[in-house]
Amino acid sequence: MDKKELVKAALEARKLSYAPYSHFRVGAALLAKSGKIYTGCNIENAAYTPSNCAERTAFFKAVSEGEHDFTAIAITGGREDAAHLQICAPCGVCRQVMEEFCDEETFEIILGTDADDMQVYTLKELLPLGFGVSNLN
Ligand code: THU
Repeated sequence: MDKKELVKAALEARKLSYAPYSHFRVGAALLAKSGKIYTGCNIENAAYTPSNCAERTAFFKAVSEGEHDFTAIAITGGREDAAHLQICAPCGVCRQVMEEFCDEETFEIILGTDADDMQVYTLKELLPLGFGVSNLN
């Protein structure tokens, strides 16, 4: 799977964002080792705290369908009225969810504004010294 295709899938997912309170729309596309792509958008709530980020929507969709192994995630985000998107990095809670399921050395986090403009990080770069399942052993 080409990184550009994953960013395009995240941009499509962003169109379904439900963000009537922040007006900040986010889309994510998560690539499983099986080759399947799970998309997600942010879903806000009038009570605010039940809101869910696009990245976690994608992870929870995937895990609830039996996937536990992932290669990469593309993330796109920006205000709904933005003419051009800015790079949108995942929040700390989403980084922790990635830590649960992803290899920190190889899992790629692709931050894109469009298919021709992206930055790529490993999970270890965005969550150094993370707390994960190995800490409990
Ligand atoms: N949000 C995401 O979905 N992913 C991120 O990486 C950053 C923030 C959402 C949460 C909320 O609905 C809105 O963007 C503004 O914070």
